[in-house]
Amino acid sequence: MAKVTIDGHLMDVPDGTTILNAARMMAEQHPELSANVPPAMCYYSKLEGSGGKCRTCLVQVTKGSEKDPRPMPKLVASCRTTVMDGMEVQNKLSAQVQDARKGVVEFLLLNHPLDCPVCDQAGECHLQDLGYEHGSQNTRYEFKRRTFEVEDIGDKVKLHMNRCILCYRCVFTANQITEGRVHGIINRGDHAEISTYIHQSIDNDFSGNVIDVCPVGALTDKTFRFKSRVWNTNPYNAHRECTNPKCKGHVVLWMAGNDILRVTARKDQWGEVESFICNECRFDKKSLGDWIVEGPRKIDRHSVISGGHYNSLSDKKVLTKSTTFAVMEGSRKD
Ligand code: SF4
Ligand code: FES
Repeated sequence: MAKVTIDGHLMDVPDGTTILNAARMMAEQHPELSANVPPAMCYYSKLEGSGGKCRTCLVQVTKGSEKDPRPMPKLVASCRTTVMDGMEVQNKLSAQVQDARKGVVEFLLLNHPLDCPVCDQAGECHLQDLGYEHGSQNTRYEFKRRTFEVEDIGDKVKLHMNRCILCYRCVFTANQITEGRVHGIINRGDHAEISTYIHQSIDNDFSGNVIDVCPVGALTDKTFRFKSRVWNTNPYNAHRECTNPKCKGHVVLWMAGNDILRVTARKDQWGEVESFICNECRFDKKSLGDWIVEGPRKIDRHSVISGGHYNSLSDKKVLTKSTTFAVMEGSRKD
């Protein structure tokens, strides 16, 4: 075990834990410390090799370890740096980190279009949250923004390459949980883009998960496109006996009245999928009879999407009977 102090809070964590995961562990034990967890736009605990791309998780190591207490000379990526016994780290408390994060957000937004009013990801977009916390009101960028030709990657997933921040999560997802990845990042630098190489559609049974891992609105669900703002829908936990052996069938239904507008995997407080779901559950099961509804889903994130609260008793009552399911319109106050 190693003792690590993050923003003045001490904790023992297993050797080999990264600073980011140590901060998450701290917050899981003490929810009031959630604000001390560095943001992560590319790291994804379920995807091997992820992290180290976006630099949003930078922190300052003010004491290297008990053995070698010298501070680290530069800010480090907390998703890629493992803790040492006696290490002291500053995230929220470091003015240098806050300043660097502002710079990272400014870079991420250089080419990112101001699409929030028309983007389906708005309300659950990590870049939107980050921009809100660390972005500046004006841009100093005077050049033409980078744009890409529209590429059709199939009938279920919409690719908006102009919004992509090249975090590689979708590539790792396709590589690690689907068979026969057909997309990746081609070219380098300013020209780097997500592509299916030969315009093949992404059509294997788990391909829809790239939508859930994408931190921005670069990959969105075509079956939900422009149907509603996410904060106007009511999320419910639901499950079904899925015949796909790799899928547990545990999902969130995003509803408007009795209509299922979209189906996603369940995400934890860090915005990461709890278990990946198959395309049949995600795209083809849009009728209430397909699902056993468990109850309202509390979205526990600092995004606008968690602004709603279920405070109508009728919600609980109707959800005990999935056959006569009737969601009370407006029961979620957001
Ligand atoms: S499309 Fe989304 S998940 Fe894929 S690299 Fe771009 S931002 Fe990341
Ligand atoms: S989350 Fe650490 S570099 Fe992206």
